[in-house]
Amino acid sequence: MRVAAVLTAAGSGSRLGHELPKALVDLGGATVVVRAARGLLASGVVDLLVVTVPAEHQGAFAAALTAGELEPDVPVTLVVGGASRQASVAAGLRELPADVDVVLVHDAARCLTPPAMVARVVAAVRAGHRAVVPTVAVTDTLVEVGPDGVRTVDRTTLRAVQTPQGFDRALLDRAHRAAADRAHDERQAATDDASLCAALGEPVATVDGADEAFKITTARDLAVARTLVKEDA
Ligand code: C5P
Repeated sequence: MRVAAVLTAAGSGSRLGHELPKALVDLGGATVVVRAARGLLASGVVDLLVVTVPAEHQGAFAAALTAGELEPDVPVTLVVGGASRQASVAAGLRELPADVDVVLVHDAARCLTPPAMVARVVAAVRAGHRAVVPTVAVTDTLVEVGPDGVRTVDRTTLRAVQTPQGFDRALLDRAHRAAADRAHDERQAATDDASLCAALGEPVATVDGADEAFKITTARDLAVARTLVKEDA
């Protein structure tokens, strides 16, 4: 089986309060996108990498990935992303060679994801699950807010979903084709890929996620990530 990873890095990062796209922000001497790519490749299960990037920053991403000195044996392709994450993933999928049969989709913003978690996801796909998501338990009390106040939701069956998510390539292609009409509107587009497969009635399997795979979204998340890489150094 040949495994490709689509690394989504085409977001603006506006919630981070930075001028640069989030994936180009420095995190203890390496950019977010380079750390995310290194984590994927360190798993040893990824054969090629496609990175979705914002159109206006292609040169900067190419320079960052070259400077990042990734695995020489793993080809890296840059693709211009779309207006939504879903459209960016679809653009990445269109770049994959015909002989790829397993696809990982990963948020560059989850750049501290442990390589062992990447390997777990691929192992589950190899074991026959056609759509696989890493999940973690939720720790807060969760409520549904309605016109009459709040209703507490039973959290014991709820999980937060992370990336990388792993797929049989044919299934993921079909799920994205079915959802393509919604991809150009950020509000309508899906925020992950497994939900597109679930919408087709496909079962989605879970593996253990990891706290370190949190998504850097806010300035506080970035501060936490900087502390973690410093502790690791
Ligand atoms: O905005 P958010 O943090 O939810 O985005 C998740 C991931 O999707 C990020 O790594 C971001 O760069 C990527 N993305 C993308 N194309 C977009 C929007 C987000 O590749 N149009």
